[in-house]
Amino acid sequence: MNKKWNGLYYPTKDFQKQANLNNKKIYKQASKDPIAFWSDLAKKELFWQEPFTETFSNKQTNFGPEIKWFSGGKLNLTENIFEHNISQSNSLSLRGGSQADEAIPTVEIASGSALAMTKSKVALIWEPENPDEQTKKYTYEELLSEVNKFANALKNLGVKKGDTVGIYLPIIPEIAISMLACARIGVVHLVVFSAFSPDALRIRLQTVKAKYLITADGYYRRGKTINLKQNADLGIENTNIEKVIVVKRAGNDIIWENSKNFWFDELTKNESNICPPEKMNSEDLLFVLPESGTTGQFLPIIHTTGGYTLQAKVTGKWVFDIKDGDVFWSTADPGWITGHTYSIYSPLLNGITTLLFEGAPDFPTTDRWAKIIEKNKVTILYTAPTAIRMFKQYGAESFKNCDISSLRVLGSVGEIIDAPTWLWHNKEIGKNKLPIVDTYWQTETGAIIITSLPGIGPTKPACAGLSLPGVNMNIFDENGKPCKNGVEGNLVMLPPYCPAIVRGIFGAPEKYKNVYWNLYGKDVYITSDRAIKDKHGIIKITGRADDVIKIAGRRITTSELESAVNNHPEISESAVIGIPDEIKGSTPLVFATYRGVKNKDEVTKEIEQEIKKSMGPIATPKKIYLVHELPKTRSGKIMRTLLKKLYFNENLGDISTLSNPETIEAIKKQITTNL
Ligand code: WTA
Repeated sequence: MNKKWNGLYYPTKDFQKQANLNNKKIYKQASKDPIAFWSDLAKKELFWQEPFTETFSNKQTNFGPEIKWFSGGKLNLTENIFEHNISQSNSLSLRGGSQADEAIPTVEIASGSALAMTKSKVALIWEPENPDEQTKKYTYEELLSEVNKFANALKNLGVKKGDTVGIYLPIIPEIAISMLACARIGVVHLVVFSAFSPDALRIRLQTVKAKYLITADGYYRRGKTINLKQNADLGIENTNIEKVIVVKRAGNDIIWENSKNFWFDELTKNESNICPPEKMNSEDLLFVLPESGTTGQFLPIIHTTGGYTLQAKVTGKWVFDIKDGDVFWSTADPGWITGHTYSIYSPLLNGITTLLFEGAPDFPTTDRWAKIIEKNKVTILYTAPTAIRMFKQYGAESFKNCDISSLRVLGSVGEIIDAPTWLWHNKEIGKNKLPIVDTYWQTETGAIIITSLPGIGPTKPACAGLSLPGVNMNIFDENGKPCKNGVEGNLVMLPPYCPAIVRGIFGAPEKYKNVYWNLYGKDVYITSDRAIKDKHGIIKITGRADDVIKIAGRRITTSELESAVNNHPEISESAVIGIPDEIKGSTPLVFATYRGVKNKDEVTKEIEQEIKKSMGPIATPKKIYLVHELPKTRSGKIMRTLLKKLYFNENLGDISTLSNPETIEAIKKQITTNL
């Protein structure tokens, strides 16, 4: 962005001219009748096997609203990626099924230019961690062929429409192939982040009673081989998993159980590459993705087919200004929602090339990302502020020998991007001309809901931007009244919400109602974020209203960390708080009461190990304080806010409600002496 006026940044004339959305009238047009707006888009953008009959409904039930988009319609997400995108003349040999001879509508980009799509266009580029290992590329034709073969293999194993399959894979092409194969045959996928522990895998598989798991023998992380199969074997104990499909990636030694284990390659080797897309109702489940929620609740979030497919597609087109030749790199792991929507579904629905990278951003050298951009001529880079802060710390010098001039749009997601980092990004990566889209959304919203559009603006550093056209976000005070401009309140979404909004919590309908719909009445969706709006309508996210902390963009609740700490036999209770961190955004600080039997250093180390094991190394606490008692109110509530104030040496205010004020001095001493 180079045009700066009054603290706001606007797109360059050149960018604006060519942008898919460049007229701010779209906001007015959408808000006049958002339901009609989404209905038109759904008809124009998606290929429906059967047309929908009702655009939106919102029936109140005892368990909260039953939201439906595009009822009566039938579609398949993968058909929208492959057959719909591949031009008619090229597509016939791949279609299969009953629709082989139907005309395929041309995809119109919002600006009016048609997408020149062929089956030989590259759909997926995969960069391995080791730069000396070969990059893999799949054309749309090849990817569909792999997806169909694996979909047929799943069917032959006994997987049926409506079943749920667990996917516990590193960032390798098979993760995309597996997700797409599930969507092809109407199987619900549940992806579990590969760095999660066996316990984290188990609870997820148990929730959905999955009978099948797709995993790998191992993968590489900073040059080391991680034995994923071993974690999977432990994680499936006490679950319903009957069959485990294993991708050969690292060639490490694994324990093999003939009756239960199947090599991915062997299963697919002789399968047909034709598999007709299953007819899915718009509201049929597409995937479940468990997330951390308010007060440590475990929330397996449900997404359905029609609404998600539409929002994933159009947000890509609008927010990243997706064009025919784009190479889209979303650095998120497909184990998280950003990886689902923008590493896989959105770019493929828009018929462009997506890039997946197996490794860490600065391994083996700090210019690794820049080299990948240069090599693959990446045009859109979507990442988290934590990565940008890391590169800022390394300095622009660290990649000065790489040509990153292919970039045309930069995106950020997952946490607040502070102004100094935004400004560095704008100058050093954006060269003061590329648009930066700070995108706000949640696992629950499925796709972006707040951002400044790159061809329209304005953009304000450290602020997400405006509600997306067709989405009505607002900020409410404690009484449910809209806050005045500049006043902080709770960020909410009002009807008709967005097409990809969460449809429920798997197996726990009461949580769906209690977490999202219980504060301001049955129609108001609660994001659990705090925010402020300025006079232009630009929304700035100020932080979470609950105990969720974002560590390096990953969503973790303090109570989840506390339960990991409390696993230690020396610990009776603990309090975890999130404190600012220069790189990770937030980092945990642990206060735990211990019995004093074992050596303190040993206990600290063991707690650290326990946290790493259950939540991954990213959650390693900045410091663990082993204390005798935690400050509590007379009703027994641990005063976490007080701990934060103590840590930052702030005024504690009134502490007369504490049942044990003497703990304050003791903890203060520990903090100052760093014990
Ligand atoms: C936070 C990630 C500030 C927010 C897509 C939200 C953000 C939570 C932004 C969801 C942003 C996401 N600015 N905060 N641009 N984007 N968040 O489910 O607290 O992993 O509620 O989805 O991340 O995290 P989740």
